[in-house]
Amino acid sequence: ASIHDQKLVRGNGGELHQTGEGDTEILTTSQGAPVSDDQNTLKIGERGPALIEDFHFREKIFHFDHERIPERVVHARGYGAHGYFETYESLAKYTRADIFQRAGEKTPAFVRFSTVAGAKGSFDLARDVRGFAVKLYTQEGNWDIVGNNIPVFFIQDAIKFPDLVHAVKEEPDRAFPQAQSAHDNFWDFISLTPESMHMIMWIMSDRAIPRSFRFMEGFGVHTFRFLNAKDESTFVKFIWKPKLGLQSVIWNEAVKINGADPDFHRRDLWDAIQAGDFPEWELCVQLFDQEFADSFDFDILDPTKIIPEEIVEPIPVGRLVLDRMPDNFFAETEQVAFMTQNVPPGVDFSNDPLLQGRNFSYLDTQLKRLGGPNFTHIPINAPKCPMHHFQQDGHMAMRNPVGRANYQPNSWGLGPREHPQKGFRSFADAEDGQKVRLRAESFADHYSQARQFFVSQTVTEQKHIAMALTFELSKVETVTIRERMVSHLLNIDEGLGETVAEKLGIKTLPKKADAAIAPRDDLPASDALSIVRN
Ligand code: HEM
Repeated sequence: ASIHDQKLVRGNGGELHQTGEGDTEILTTSQGAPVSDDQNTLKIGERGPALIEDFHFREKIFHFDHERIPERVVHARGYGAHGYFETYESLAKYTRADIFQRAGEKTPAFVRFSTVAGAKGSFDLARDVRGFAVKLYTQEGNWDIVGNNIPVFFIQDAIKFPDLVHAVKEEPDRAFPQAQSAHDNFWDFISLTPESMHMIMWIMSDRAIPRSFRFMEGFGVHTFRFLNAKDESTFVKFIWKPKLGLQSVIWNEAVKINGADPDFHRRDLWDAIQAGDFPEWELCVQLFDQEFADSFDFDILDPTKIIPEEIVEPIPVGRLVLDRMPDNFFAETEQVAFMTQNVPPGVDFSNDPLLQGRNFSYLDTQLKRLGGPNFTHIPINAPKCPMHHFQQDGHMAMRNPVGRANYQPNSWGLGPREHPQKGFRSFADAEDGQKVRLRAESFADHYSQARQFFVSQTVTEQKHIAMALTFELSKVETVTIRERMVSHLLNIDEGLGETVAEKLGIKTLPKKADAAIAPRDDLPASDALSIVRN
C-alpha cells in the first residue's frame, strides 16, 4: 500500500497507529507472534508502571541493543557492490584454477572498496590508501584478492602491522579523529621505518585522493604463485585496471568535498550502478619464473617493491563488472569477510612475510568481528559451489552434518572424502635454513623505488607530492620528526627534500638518512609504474 492508502488511527494518547489492512503484511515479533500495538508498552493502567512481561517490548529493545558489531580494526569504512568476473582465455598453461579454464566463463563477484585509517563514520576523501577487496565465488571455493589501490605496502613483515596501525590511528590519550593522517605518532613511526618510504611517495601522491572508486587501480601487492595441472609454478602479481582510467582530485577539492558530502565516493558508486553505468576493470597478471626472480634487482618477496610494468608486462586475463548494489548494506557489505588465505587449487602463496602474516590475521579477526566460527554460513560469505565437510555446531550453526557420520574415514561410506588430484595442493618448494629472526639483506634497499616513483611523476604531480608532504609535516609538532623525515626525502630526491625543508622553515638541512643500501640513481624514469597522465 502506498503512503496515501495507509489508514491512520489515533490512539488514546493522541499517538498515531498504522494498522495492517488488506494485503499489508502483519508486524510480528522475531518469533513470529503477530503484534497488536507497536506504540505502547504493556503497563498497569495507562500511566504505568511498565511490565517486564511485555515480551514484544523486551525483544525489540534487546535486538536493537545488539545491532552494532565491532567495526573492522582497519578498513572500517567501506562500500561494496556485486558483479561478475569474465575469463578471456584459458590460462591452463599456468594454472589449474577452474576459474581460468574456459574462455567466456562468468564467475559471480563481490567487491568492497574502503579507506584504511578512518572509522566507519569517517569521510570518503581522506588522504589514505583505498582497499580493493574482491571475492570471486569460483566453482572451487571462494578466492579473495584482498588488495589496495597502491601496489606496495608500508612494512615488510606482518609483525609490524599492529605498530603501523596504532601509529596511523588516534593517539591513545587524546583520541583525535584519525582520518586526518597528520599527527606526530604517524610521522614518528614512518620516520623510524625507512622501508615505508616507497609507500609514502604513493600516499603523498594524487593516488591517495581518488576522484571515485571507479577510477582506481587495484593491486594484490604480494607475489603469488600459479600452479598448473603438473604442479609447475609461475610467480604472479595481480593488477586490476579500470576501464575508465585513473583520476584523482586535488587536496583543496578533497577538503571541500569532505565538508559538503562525506559520502561522495559511496554516492558515486551507488549512482553509477543504479544508472546502469557499470564500472569495469580488467584483471591483469604479471607472470615470471624463478630465473627472473633470481635476476631481478629487488626481492620479489618484498611487498615494498613493485615489478615495473615495462619489465614484466601485465597481461589482461579477464574483466570484472560491477552491476548490482547490495539489497542490504549490513548483511552484505558489513558482514563480508575477505581473507588472503582464501585461494582455490591452482593459486598458491609465496613466502612474502607480510602475506604469511595476513594469512593468519584475517581468519582470526573475522572470528571476533562476526561473532563465532560460522561466518561462512552468512550468505555473502558462503561459497556458491558444492561444499561438504564435517564441521559442526558452534554459535549460529546453519548447516550441520546430516545423518550418522560426522567424521572420516568411516565404515558407513557416509560423507565426503579427500581427492588427491582435485584437491588444493601447495607448491612443494624446497626450503632449507636456520630458524632465525632476521630480515633478508635483499630487502634492504629502501629508497631506489621511492625515487623511481617520484621521478616518474609529471612536474605537476611531483609538486602535489611536495605540497602534501609539507602540509602533513607542518601538522607535526616535534621538530626532530620533521627533520628525520627530510633526511629520508633527501635520499629519495634532493630537490624534494630541499623544497619540503624550505617550506617547513627548516634552516639547516639535516644530513641524509643513513641508508643500508645507497639509493640507485640509474633507474629509468618512465611510464613503467602505470602512471596515467590525464
Ligand atoms: C582488512 C588490504 C596488510 C590485517 C583489510 C581490507 C583490505 C586489506 C582491502 C578490507 C577488507 C574488506 O573490505 O572487508 C591489505 C593489504 C595489505 C594488508 C593490501 C598489505 C599488502 C595487512 C596486514 C595485516 C592485515 C599485514 C595483519 C597482519 C587486516 C585486518 C583487517 C584487514 C585485521 C580487518 C578485516 C575485517 O575485520 O574484516 N586489509 N591489508 N592487513 N586487514 Fe589488511
